[in-house]
Amino acid sequence: TMAEPLNIALAGLGTVGTGVIRLIETNAALIARRARRPIRIVAVSARDRTKDRGVDLAPYVWEDDPTQLTRREDVDVVVELVGGSDGPALTLARNAIANGKALVTANKAMLAHHGLELATLAESKRTALKYEAAVAGGIPVIKGLREGAAANVIERIYGILNGTCNYILSRMEAERLPFGEVLADAQRLGFAEADPSFDIDGIDAAHKLSILASLAFGARVDFGHVACEGIRAVESADIDHAAALGFRIKLIGLAAAEGGALFQRVHPCLVSLKHPLAHVDGSLNAVVAEGNFVGRLLFQGRGAGEGPTASAVVADLIDVARGEFGPAFAMPAARLSKLPPADQLAHEGRFYLRLTVADRPGVLAEITAALRDAGVSIESLIQRGVAANGGVYVVMVTHSAVERQVRAALSVLAGSDSLTGAPMMMHILDF
Ligand code: NDP
Ligand code: HSE
Repeated sequence: TMAEPLNIALAGLGTVGTGVIRLIETNAALIARRARRPIRIVAVSARDRTKDRGVDLAPYVWEDDPTQLTRREDVDVVVELVGGSDGPALTLARNAIANGKALVTANKAMLAHHGLELATLAESKRTALKYEAAVAGGIPVIKGLREGAAANVIERIYGILNGTCNYILSRMEAERLPFGEVLADAQRLGFAEADPSFDIDGIDAAHKLSILASLAFGARVDFGHVACEGIRAVESADIDHAAALGFRIKLIGLAAAEGGALFQRVHPCLVSLKHPLAHVDGSLNAVVAEGNFVGRLLFQGRGAGEGPTASAVVADLIDVARGEFGPAFAMPAARLSKLPPADQLAHEGRFYLRLTVADRPGVLAEITAALRDAGVSIESLIQRGVAANGGVYVVMVTHSAVERQVRAALSVLAGSDSLTGAPMMMHILDF
């Protein structure tokens, strides 16, 4: 005979919530064997009771107010799939934990802003806070770091953390489509955030990065200090120039703990075709973690969408059913260190620079002089193509340089009347 079921309540029945219902129904028998007890959905909540969601909700109690789910005696776990950093999701999460329920969530925005508070509360209530789905959807990267790599000092963690941006950049390159058209497709496919700015301005990737950094470096989540730049300024021409130089453009989230400071950045980056991340296409995500004993780990898979995200949510439920869970950020919240933010501009690396200039004598000399004066050395320089405004593109790759110096050169050039458009600067991923 089987043990008592784990009784769960679902708040939010959108892409992820309905996926969780379908997964639990489809794989019920196997899940019960693995968890040593069935996982049973008891109650659900969303905004609109009459909406056809393609799943049968008749077997479950409906609550109009999701917070009611946290007060039900027959519920062991509340699964928060509403979304939003604050508002109803946060109220629900706080109440669920305060009432001694385990909380499973896919909500990276909420964890980026309130992860430390919720983890502290969960510890004090001796209950679980689990969020595998919040970072890179179906990829078990939270488990990978919390469990698989737990013995390592993690030196650096980086990856492709937003499926929408990766999908947009991949299709812009493969099919030479404009940005706006591809964004609309991503929204139809169900992996874009409710607010598209969260995806394309890098905020969603920054949410995820701040969670990964906390886990990887034993530091408190510090979303406020993620330097964040999205993909709006990336032009099709940049994708072409990068390809000509042997790179693909990817939105990369990168975090490192350096000299007692926390470096966190989300930015479009040139990735060499020799690097595995260059070949992570479409809505796929990938995370690289470098540990001092394990070496380089690469996690890759579907970072969003109904099936992959539900897979991660239900993996967390199985852990709760087994009674296998520890502190949310791999160590007690009180032990997480408060690392100061690193000086971003002191960072060294190679850069891609794209200038749109008037095609006339002396312009190249002006550009190279500005870089020389800032102490930036050029590795390669090409003049290629004609810009929409009739100017020509001057595209450069620098030798390793300090970002502050590169920015100094660009601000000198930005004031020059030889430039016919705003300069574009992107980092090159060099590890
Ligand atoms: P959806 O927008 O598809 O679904 C949200 C659900 O929450 C809907 O069922 C909605 O109700 C319900 N809801 C919204 N506001 C309220 C409220 N005030 N009270 C009660 N219910 C409410 O979102 P997703 O399923 O895509 O995302 C859910 C969470 O998962 C988010 O945190 C998201 O960031 C995260 N996530 C999503 C992924 C994805 O691929 N979609 C991947 C990884 C994480 P109704 O349907 O009635 O309008
Ligand atoms: N909007 C997110 C993405 C969903 O595109 O990756 C997964 O968190």
